[in-house]
Amino acid sequence: MIEEKDGFFCLHGDSFCYLLCLENGELSLIHFGRDLPIEDGAALKLDRSVLPGRATLSPDGRTGAVTTSEFPLGRYGDKLSPCLQAEKGGKSSFDFLVRSHRINELAEPMDGYPTPKWASELVFELADEAMGVEVELHYLLFKTAVGRYMRIVNHGEPLTVRKALCSITFPFVDFSGRFLSASWADEARPSDVRFNCGCWSMDSSLGASCEAFNPFFYLRRENGECYGFNLVYSGNHFAAVEAGKHGFTRVMNGISPTAFAKTVSDGEAFTTPLSVLTYGEDLDCLSHANSDFVNGCIIPEAFANKVKPITYNNWEATYFKFTRQKIYALARKAKKLGIELFVLDDGWFGSRDDDTKSLGDWKPNLKKLPGGPRKVSDYVHRLGMKFGLWFEPEMVNPDSDLYRAHPDWALSDGVHENSLGRNQLTLDLTKPEVQDFIVDTIVSAIKDYRLDYVKWDYNRSMDGFPRLEGNYCHEYVMSLYKVLSRIKQRCPDTLFENCASGGSRNDLGMYSFFPYGWLSDDTDSYERAKMQRELSVGYPFSVFSNHVSAKTSHQMFRYSSLGTKFDVAMLGCLGYELDLSALRKLDEREIASQISFYKAHRELAQLGRRYDVSGDGFIAVESQLGDKALVSFQAKEATPNFHYDFLHVKGLRKEGRYILKNRKESFDLRRFGSMVNYVSPVRIKEDGALINLISRHYEFPSEETSLLCSGSALDAGVPLPPAYCGSGISKSSRIMFDFSARAYSIEPCSEGESKAKSKE
Ligand code: DGJ
Repeated sequence: MIEEKDGFFCLHGDSFCYLLCLENGELSLIHFGRDLPIEDGAALKLDRSVLPGRATLSPDGRTGAVTTSEFPLGRYGDKLSPCLQAEKGGKSSFDFLVRSHRINELAEPMDGYPTPKWASELVFELADEAMGVEVELHYLLFKTAVGRYMRIVNHGEPLTVRKALCSITFPFVDFSGRFLSASWADEARPSDVRFNCGCWSMDSSLGASCEAFNPFFYLRRENGECYGFNLVYSGNHFAAVEAGKHGFTRVMNGISPTAFAKTVSDGEAFTTPLSVLTYGEDLDCLSHANSDFVNGCIIPEAFANKVKPITYNNWEATYFKFTRQKIYALARKAKKLGIELFVLDDGWFGSRDDDTKSLGDWKPNLKKLPGGPRKVSDYVHRLGMKFGLWFEPEMVNPDSDLYRAHPDWALSDGVHENSLGRNQLTLDLTKPEVQDFIVDTIVSAIKDYRLDYVKWDYNRSMDGFPRLEGNYCHEYVMSLYKVLSRIKQRCPDTLFENCASGGSRNDLGMYSFFPYGWLSDDTDSYERAKMQRELSVGYPFSVFSNHVSAKTSHQMFRYSSLGTKFDVAMLGCLGYELDLSALRKLDEREIASQISFYKAHRELAQLGRRYDVSGDGFIAVESQLGDKALVSFQAKEATPNFHYDFLHVKGLRKEGRYILKNRKESFDLRRFGSMVNYVSPVRIKEDGALINLISRHYEFPSEETSLLCSGSALDAGVPLPPAYCGSGISKSSRIMFDFSARAYSIEPCSEGESKAKSKE
């Protein structure tokens, strides 16, 4: 609900409010946090009758000193940075006053950007009459978030906008923050900052949103309250947190000002992307606000709050080297194990046998796949699975028919020889003919090959921009949105997976079109556990595409059992990416049992609420939905000697009775070295032939945990069985190799189960 009373405006969400005051044409923030009545505005408003020394005043008595302005311009003693930098006719000083406002039951669509669903809206209209510029400040109210953007309208001489950020100023200075830095295979690495005085900023400016930082970050106050910031945008972005001497903190985010200059001509408008602001009384509440917002308002209608299929993708199993027979064998095995969607990754087109050629030539490679993808699609469909293909539509290899026919379609700075990234060039998406080519390619492939799914990849960063004026990078992103809207309009039910060498474009702009994404090319479970823990503060599990890959990580050479890989991959949308046709029988059985476990808990795994229940020495992330929970428990390095790990399970009914169980796993005997003789009736040599033979048929079973207790006890924390501590291997000790994992399910316990358990 949006309320207005006596110069105050209050946007009430489900459990927060955003309270503003409009006075003398100036808009300032009164409160953003737990919900309050609008009438409290008067009491919460800062008394500015006494100003700090050297404060300046406008002729009509306004001051920028100690102001929580919602549109700060660095004037009248405001010591923090302005949110707008622009010039017009050689002048660059602006002074805007609010002239009017309007409230819309349904938010107006944003010019060219994906507009999240289900928002009402408050719009303030500001003008600097002397400069001939108007600004609209839009506030979109969602159940669990506020969205903000500005629309700048110019009159007369051209205006060049160099920086236009969303800005919020808090009248306190006790924040620390966490940003997620990113590089290939190392996405979402947390970096913590304590803001005292001065400015800290992050800038991601190589084309894709997550080249350097994810657009999501959060701040936490000393009292535990948390604020989340994100952008519905897929390109270069910037954020700054600035703490000032008078105890104020300003947070800004938006398009990166690096290499940005947008000229707005007479009568034209420039609109900034939507900044998303969320609030939580603690970090878990913040993650709930974010996941409700993304699941409810960002994800395309056809997929919102629905579960996704279990996928098989052949990439790490075959890379470019496959034949139709190999693909068929993988598909048969995938079906047998319970997989629902089969994806043929890179290498099915042109003469693509490695990454040096053929991007852009989206015609089947008939040598590898006689009959082309349609034949494979029919085969997979006959097996009873869905079928999908990989594309990298925005790119071209110089060694391709497409490039030979249209060299001018590739992005070039017009002066130097083009740079190559993974041997490829970026197509100039701002060209209408390139947009048509991509739309036709994808739409015809979906129809001709009967695709249920498309993986949309993007594998190089952008450099050598052809022009600064007109702002190339931003135009590129807006062209991408045009292309994606056209495709989605024609194929609304096709499932698209977002990918950019893993997670280089893991942002809300992309999720507005594609309901999930490949988080990282690093499929090592410990690395993924860390990433998932951080990303799940800002994004729901439903957008995580996680695959179980080969035991020895292709990215790290770290060994993890298939069980460990699954226990981490299960939080989100599950897939497999290892060579299924080379599995031992035991591994096949393990995967089949993982899949049936996942099917029984899929809603919970994809659509649940996140709680971080990590402890010393382990990462534990919980997903809770209704009366059930699932915990992914990832140990760090094994520790010597005895200790207990306590597992907390949050969000359940305190008085409810629950049963907590681990998913049963088993361990390869070869992991025990010569300790294997503690459990073997005959003497076995640690690296002899016998152990290899036995381990093909037998694995050592994990402990079995089954605890019956109340929701209160779970919330307080229950002790897990003691971890193996250097003496004796037994079926009741919890054997945790370095970086191994467990999955715990928590379900309500029936009377009968409760009685039976107490008799045990
Ligand atoms: C990068 C992706 O992240 C991988 O999953 C795979 O699709 C390769 N590209 C294919 O080239």
